[in-house]
Amino acid sequence: MKLYRAKDYKDMSRKAANVISAQVIMKPDCVLGLATGSSPLGTYQQLIEWYEKGDLDFSETKSANLDEYKGLPRDNDQSYYYFMYNNFFKHINIDLNNTNIPNGMEPDSAKECARYEKVIADLGGVDLQLLGLGHNGHIGFNEPDAAFEKITHCVDLTESTIEANKRFFATIDDVPKQAYTMGIGTIMRAKKILLIVSGEEKSSILYKALYGPVTPQVPASILQLHNDVVVVADEAALSKFPG
Ligand code: GLP
Repeated sequence: MKLYRAKDYKDMSRKAANVISAQVIMKPDCVLGLATGSSPLGTYQQLIEWYEKGDLDFSETKSANLDEYKGLPRDNDQSYYYFMYNNFFKHINIDLNNTNIPNGMEPDSAKECARYEKVIADLGGVDLQLLGLGHNGHIGFNEPDAAFEKITHCVDLTESTIEANKRFFATIDDVPKQAYTMGIGTIMRAKKILLIVSGEEKSSILYKALYGPVTPQVPASILQLHNDVVVVADEAALSKFPG
């Protein structure tokens, strides 16, 4: 695992965007595993800037997103499809037909999860998976649990996640209670993983994820077992590290 220390959110975003651009330049038809949330926003903005300058070309790039709320249509401004389209895809030259996100409107969970696993397998797997870190250590929507869920599945979101995400909805009752997410096994099969973490409130959980016991109670701790993980964390996110 390589840990890169960034000064602040902007610096973290720039360093993360550098890792992603290197991937796209070295393998233009690569499969990017993408994430939503406030953590990757700056990374996407930086990539858009470099694209606009003519330094990046996404015309052959493919993508597979980590997760999607169950029950939200694409045009709901809180759906992850909406997030990805408006914060990244519409600003670059990626072919929308090459972008993949679980379909939150498929009511049959077993069917949708099997479909999404097949989509990823048919793409040949993910080359570089971008991840944010949830306040409780979740990655994608793999919540702390008694066991690691391996493949794409439907999750019941925890109180803490619903609480953390309620700021985006009119009321807490509007926050979806379930989501489709790549499983831990799906994530761990990515050839390379890029975890980005910013802010003091994530510092303790980041420490547990990187140096604590590998346990499904801290889903991100499984990353310790992956052989190609790059972590970019800002000073605030590293501030509660002992020593
Ligand atoms: C959501 C997403 C995660 C994301 C997490 C952290 O729950 N499903 O993929 O990593 O939020 O979000 P943020 O980056 O806004 O702190």
